Amino acid sequence: MKDLVGIKEIEKSDIERILNTASSFKDVLKRDIKKVPALRGKTVVNLFFEPSTRTKTSFELAEKRMSMDVLNFSVPTSSVVKGESLLDTVRTIEAYGVDFIVIRHSSSGAPHFIARNVNASVISGGDGINEHPTQALLDAFSIIEKKGRLEGLKIAIVGDILHSRVAKSNIYCLAKLGAKVRLIGPPTLIPMDLPEGVTVFHDMDEGIKDTDVIMMLRIQMERQGKGFFPSTGEYSMLYGLNINRLGLAKKDAIVMHPGPMNRGIEISSEVADCQQSVILEQVTNGIAVRMAVMYLLSGMQENE
Ligand code: CP
Repeated sequence: MKDLVGIKEIEKSDIERILNTASSFKDVLKRDIKKVPALRGKTVVNLFFEPSTRTKTSFELAEKRMSMDVLNFSVPTSSVVKGESLLDTVRTIEAYGVDFIVIRHSSSGAPHFIARNVNASVISGGDGINEHPTQALLDAFSIIEKKGRLEGLKIAIVGDILHSRVAKSNIYCLAKLGAKVRLIGPPTLIPMDLPEGVTVFHDMDEGIKDTDVIMMLRIQMERQGKGFFPSTGEYSMLYGLNINRLGLAKKDAIVMHPGPMNRGIEISSEVADCQQSVILEQVTNGIAVRMAVMYLLSGMQENE
């Protein structure tokens, strides 16, 4: 593989290879010296055309842990604001001889377009409402770390599935790895074209019953028009995860959220901070998973 722009287009064996490699890097991150020379001499540029806290910092830390030279591209102070096109911007950066381009963009398909036009390896940090592949990989890694497997687990993804690139990548990833995926949300926020085997629930209490994992999603106000649901208060009442609702899942169910959270809307603070929440562990695991992705894309093998 030259690029990682989505989970839809990769094989189950690719996902497993990334997760196994991430496991080795997680061990590295527990050492006193958390750095390896594996990608010394390689150069990466982080191109974030949309805001990010977790993905941007996690990639940057992963790159530094791999001893890479890191270039952070600041869109608001670049010539993008003077009208330079995405392709001209990327070709300019590539002229420096970069090996990796990490890109987040508001347009679905932007990383795929760039990948077709440059020699560098392109990694998507999220494109529009399409996919966020490394988030799904770190989510899978976090579930396996807690549950020991994915095969056969009942996993509920709750909320604004339609506008969530995290949900799309997770649906592909979890289905490929044999989990039973349930999507929960109002009919207006569930996409029409879903892979086979995915079950849809509009009643949250019914949907989260006996689940092993509950993955909550933020309402993506910045991507929505109006009218997908009457009010955030009503949405929260019908689809918010509070401690009583959590009681309907299995006793040892884990709660996940890719962030950023809107506490009090899709998730109560009591749940976000409870023992069953693995939200901060997801953040930690993002580094190891992103190290693994860059390591494998550079042509290194799993056990090299
Ligand atoms: N999970 C995630 O994509 O978070 P950021 O938007 O903060 O990167």
